Amino acid sequence: MSGDSAIAIDVRGLTKSFGGREVVHDLSMQVKRGSIYGFLGPNGSGKTTTIRILCGLLTPDSGEGTCLGYDIRKDADKIKRQVGYMTQRFSLYQDLSVRENLEFVARLYGLRDARGAAREMIKRLGLSGREDQLAGELSGGWKQRLALGACTLPSPKLLLLDEPTAGVDPKARRDFWNEIHALAAGGLTVLVSTHYMDEAERCHEIAYIAYGHLLAHGTVEDVIAKSALSTYTVTGEDLNELAVALTGKPGVDMVAPFGTSLHVSGRDVAALESSIAPWRERSSLHWQKSSPSLEDVFIELMGRSTDNFR
Ligand SMILES: Nc1ncnc2c1ncn2[C@@H]1O[C@H](COP(=O)(O)OP(=O)(O)O)[C@@H](O)[C@H]1O
Ligand SMILES: [Mg+2]
Repeated sequence: MSGDSAIAIDVRGLTKSFGGREVVHDLSMQVKRGSIYGFLGPNGSGKTTTIRILCGLLTPDSGEGTCLGYDIRKDADKIKRQVGYMTQRFSLYQDLSVRENLEFVARLYGLRDARGAAREMIKRLGLSGREDQLAGELSGGWKQRLALGACTLPSPKLLLLDEPTAGVDPKARRDFWNEIHALAAGGLTVLVSTHYMDEAERCHEIAYIAYGHLLAHGTVEDVIAKSALSTYTVTGEDLNELAVALTGKPGVDMVAPFGTSLHVSGRDVAALESSIAPWRERSSLHWQKSSPSLEDVFIELMGRSTDNFR
């Protein structure tokens, strides 16, 4: 990084259109060095496009800023050299072995001891014993670990991970996240896009982006607090009937089942209270005021953004 700024990514007003359609709108964000920053939002919201702008693969139509201290418009080559980018699709050679893939990548990056670097990485990834297995024959979880290993081989300062755990089983996802935390603890900055709430909760900061608009950002606690959402958790009988009855009522912005309970949320407390009042009398239902979950907040944000931007 040029200089020793505590900020790894600092961009303002990024905008990008494809074929006349704006897919990233006036997006500004800051990511602290050594932190894990989560990018959330529905499909087609511009997460991948933003990631590609940040590492210099795409030029924004407007906006400016720096990545690792380098200008995202003028110094794309310098940025690319210090960034590890794990794309949404598995991008290694399926018909090369684990070892061959890593050695190939190490040579591509011009590492002096490619074989040694590959050997070290196999150890670090816990892939010992599988080094001669073809990458294409690995399970989803092992493939992702291998891809992570490949993009950290050249010791990047910033990791961009685009939905790295989509379709990976829970145990492998947890291992993957432990590895990400270990890398961040070593000073690496990580920007990761995900659809999983439990993963969002493992990020130091998150941003929620919908239809090109960054709608909320901060720590998980910040984002929940700023939502100003009041939530009730309801348990009891006939929750389906209750959900149908409350949906669309004044003050009820969201009704969502969570396991055996129902979350009922709204921003206008007074209106929410009066809509649920008749149902609170029912002895078959148990109502409890709760704080909204991150998922409640995202569902509500998404509902609002669908109305506003679509
Ligand atoms: N190279 C491209 N050409 C035209 N449209 C694109 C291109 N890349 C992305 N898009 C469109 O931009 C929107 C945002 O895409 P993307 O950044 O991939 O979203 P996300 O990663 O959040 O799913 C989508 O509607 C997508 O179809
Ligand atoms: Mg994407």
